[in-house]
Amino acid sequence: MKKTILFIAVAIMVLPFAVFANGGSEAGSDSIVIGANIYSFADNFMNGVMKPELESYAAANGAEITIVDSEGQQAKLNDQIDVFITKGVDVLAINLVDPASASSVIEKASAAGIPLVLFNKEATEAGVMTSYDKVWYVGTDSAESGIIQGEMMVADWNANPDWDKNGDGAVQYVLLKGEPGHPDAEARTKYSVKAFTDAGIKVEELALEADPNWSTQHGNDKMQAWLSSSFGNDIELVICNNDGMAFGAINALKAADVWLPLYGVDALDQALTHIADGEMNGTVLNDGVNQSRATIDLAINAAKGMDDVTAGTNWTLENQTTKAVRVPYVAVTPENYQDFR
Ligand code: GAL
Ligand code: CA
Repeated sequence: MKKTILFIAVAIMVLPFAVFANGGSEAGSDSIVIGANIYSFADNFMNGVMKPELESYAAANGAEITIVDSEGQQAKLNDQIDVFITKGVDVLAINLVDPASASSVIEKASAAGIPLVLFNKEATEAGVMTSYDKVWYVGTDSAESGIIQGEMMVADWNANPDWDKNGDGAVQYVLLKGEPGHPDAEARTKYSVKAFTDAGIKVEELALEADPNWSTQHGNDKMQAWLSSSFGNDIELVICNNDGMAFGAINALKAADVWLPLYGVDALDQALTHIADGEMNGTVLNDGVNQSRATIDLAINAAKGMDDVTAGTNWTLENQTTKAVRVPYVAVTPENYQDFR
């Protein structure tokens, strides 16, 4: 009896401290530990927008986050996950390198009983998201970026008849594609072009090249090669799956003293400057800040063992099959780009 009373007394004394340690804003030894990665620190958007926000938002919410560079190698990421699990992190926030390799990542988390939030690259294998009750996804609706980019291009094309240089009524375009198999790259490529055909405008693809790294170097090299090719003078439009590649294409265009209408996706700061300078006609805001915040909010709730990981947050899950939080894209044009600075 005495022992029981003592135990209760101690429990009552200790409890407030225990609660404070988990709910307090200072990251301490009892704070939630998040093991995270970025598929490649060389990626402008992931490293420049998402990584700093993941870090600052986690800190502001009293969580400790470690973000490692997977250097574009899924095998490396798998090893990094093993290390996180061995170290006993409370939750994993994972940016897949290979969107078709989610199952191996989910199996690791599931075997260790650790919750997992995937972000930015949506898993492409069917059924994987329902294979584990503690896995969720934070990203966008990939198709939306292509649709918005396409609508911008169609409106501008119709407003600028001189863009049809050869006057054949068709758009002769080149397209810089991101990582093959990445839902964003596939959907942007498809829907940006589809906007023209849906609007009854003929298209002719002069060239399309993909880059798993979505890089500025790739954009520069391809655009340079295309400009000096046999069809170089026929190009009427440059479609870029992201701003990073668009920056490279702009460099190549400037070096060749050529101007062409050109569009990107992401709305990086540098893209806003290119829009201001008339070197870019539009981009689409890929809201990395809110995707980072949603990733951290879900990770913290999952680490706390909450069944509804969106409880008390600004986010909602699309449904129980995709288990996805989708942050909307926004059109960025010469008319509104200043709002995004
Ligand atoms: C996309 C983004 C690209 C690139 C890619 C990496 O959402 O638009 O610029 O960062 O993710 O997965
Ligand atoms: Ca034409």
